[in-house]
Amino acid sequence: TGYTTLDPGFVNTASTKSAITYIDGEKGILRYRGYPIEQLAEKASFIEVSYLLIYGELPTSEQLETFTDKIRRHTLLHEDLKRFFDGFPRNAHPMPVVSSAVNALSAYYPDSLDPDDSEQVELSTIRLLAKLPTIAAYAYKKSVGQPFLYPDNSLSLVENFLRMTFGFPAEPYEIDPEIAQALDMLLILHADHEQNCSTSTVRLVGSSDANLFTSISGGINALWGPLHGGANQAVLEMLEQIKNSGGDVNEFVRKVKNKEDGVKLMGFGHRVYRNYDPRAAIVKKTADSILKKLGAGDELLEIAMKLEEAALTDDYFIERKLYPNVDFYTGLIYRAMGFPDRMFTVLFALGRLPGWIAHWREMHSDPTLKIGRPRQIYVGHTERDYKGIDLR
Ligand code: CMC
Repeated sequence: TGYTTLDPGFVNTASTKSAITYIDGEKGILRYRGYPIEQLAEKASFIEVSYLLIYGELPTSEQLETFTDKIRRHTLLHEDLKRFFDGFPRNAHPMPVVSSAVNALSAYYPDSLDPDDSEQVELSTIRLLAKLPTIAAYAYKKSVGQPFLYPDNSLSLVENFLRMTFGFPAEPYEIDPEIAQALDMLLILHADHEQNCSTSTVRLVGSSDANLFTSISGGINALWGPLHGGANQAVLEMLEQIKNSGGDVNEFVRKVKNKEDGVKLMGFGHRVYRNYDPRAAIVKKTADSILKKLGAGDELLEIAMKLEEAALTDDYFIERKLYPNVDFYTGLIYRAMGFPDRMFTVLFALGRLPGWIAHWREMHSDPTLKIGRPRQIYVGHTERDYKGIDLR
């Protein structure tokens, strides 16, 4: 037709201008609002990074206190929404439970749905940041048949989440500061990654003026796929599988290279990074120290390290510039912290939430916003006449 360019998977098409996150995939650079990820991971807290992504600047201590306090006031779930978890089967994967509960927030909070009302957008932002950890913890509690815990607002966001996940109502829960700090850092690493699949989903859903809760729920669903956030669970399953079949990493690499049964090396490769994913480099260091401390999963870590080495020295991976991505080592850390495999992608969602919100808000603050509506190249039949059923 002359006006449509085809770009499957948007390999070369910018869908928007954005001032949030910068990636240089060749050099392995990632910056949020100009700040290198390495500095944020080492020095900032997840809540500060959330503020930075959403509002554009690092908060002053007063701004941080107000922001933290606002979030604290919204951590409870409506008692009716708590009953919602009972409707799911015990063995349900927590991702659809979490995305459904987030979507249901639109039904509970009609006072914060208008995308054109900045106060309502602010309120839904705070509600999401406050309630997602509670929702995530309850999805876990439901899956193990344990009672839900109310949030304890004397704790930080991550401490509260750990307590609601692993604590019991009648017992004090002792938070391991090293685990809380490592989890906080992992959330920072996941907090934004420009126009990835789930963020583009949040933008596309939101471009129809759908409310923030519903748009984020769409993003959580997109994240669940094993090519995206679901990869962290898939990596662990792959490592287990290699272990159970004798631990031969070279045999696994051979299968991947021959594309046998469509096997991929999960946790490797990235659309944008053609070099070591800077997040993976930070995660690898944390994996080393956390696993040493907790003494768990050593065997799988050993397999992962051998697998990485085998891949990085193999022509198939060298030619295609395939390096470990953020998901390669995170599962091992989450597991050592006590999370079951099925919770890994939920943890990714907790981390990515501020990024999704920042993108949705950036899009809505653009006066030239148009509904997302890609075109297509039609390759079907030309016009033909309807045939009666007896003639087909
Ligand atoms: N194992 C084996 N081969 C691979 C892999 C892999 N993990 N990744 C890419 N390739 C091959 C691919 O088969 C293709 O080979 P050929 O040219 O012979 O057909 C070539 O490398 C180029 O890959 P592509 O599929 O065109 O790359 P893409 O940009 O479309 O896909 C990706 C990116 C992340 C979906 C892909 O690398 C992949 O499937 N990786 C495994 C899943 C994974 O770890 N995902 C997490 C991504 S990072 C965090 C996140 O975004 O959630």
